[in-house]
Amino acid sequence: MSEILKLVGVFKSYDGKNNVLKNIDLNIEKGEFIGIIGQSGSGKSTLLNIIGALDIPSKGDIYFNGENISHYNSEKRAQFRNKNIGFIFQFHFLLPQFNVIENILIPNWIDSGNDSHDKKEDALDILRDMKLEDIADRDSQNISGGQQQRVAIARALINKPAIVLADEPTGNLDSKTSSQIYNLLRDINKKYKTTFLIVTHNPEIAALCDRVVEISDGVIK
Ligand SMILES: Nc1ncnc2c1ncn2[C@@H]1O[C@H](COP(=O)(O)OP(=O)(O)O)[C@@H](O)[C@H]1O
Ligand SMILES: [Mg+2]
Repeated sequence: MSEILKLVGVFKSYDGKNNVLKNIDLNIEKGEFIGIIGQSGSGKSTLLNIIGALDIPSKGDIYFNGENISHYNSEKRAQFRNKNIGFIFQFHFLLPQFNVIENILIPNWIDSGNDSHDKKEDALDILRDMKLEDIADRDSQNISGGQQQRVAIARALINKPAIVLADEPTGNLDSKTSSQIYNLLRDINKKYKTTFLIVTHNPEIAALCDRVVEISDGVIK
């Protein structure tokens, strides 16, 4: 295995005084499937935002495949995110004016500046993996919550990211749908060697991860 991510002495403060993340060291191997747990307010989302280059650390370094990304400017961070990171949130944030397949293709439009037709095949492949091919042309608002979350996962995968960051992806779903989503993420992890970091409050899901990282008041336990 090779190391895909390395955090060295990462601190984050929003107000310049109090640290929300305190001296975080974390090494992640390519293809790992990691659960992140911790109480509300402990710093889980802040950690994901920094790993995903949505935000920058106040101090410390982050290496992606050996390259220090912590000093990237906002433009470089945007490019980095679009190329390497897929985000899945608790709420799907599908755009209501677009149908299912259009929502999945949105990151690709951002990446290439056009609606390249070759990507449509990729999107259909992902929809098939998720057993969603029948709803490709449906209105994104008139499908079930579990289907919407799977569409959001498909959208996170369209640019074939090396890392998927999921912030309570099943927090809004019933337990049966949650375990289906978990299995889907695991299948993708195995098939594409995608690295996953998943914030979860669900102990059953945490127990199924390769490794669990617990954060308590900004510190990894
Ligand atoms: N954008 C922000 N501005 C100021 N404080 C923030 C911001 N985001 C999070 N915080 C604070 O940082 C701490 C950690 O928050 P967060 O990372 O969202 O925790 P978790 O995801 O574990 O619930 C909390 O005290 C929260 O209020
Ligand atoms: Mg959070």
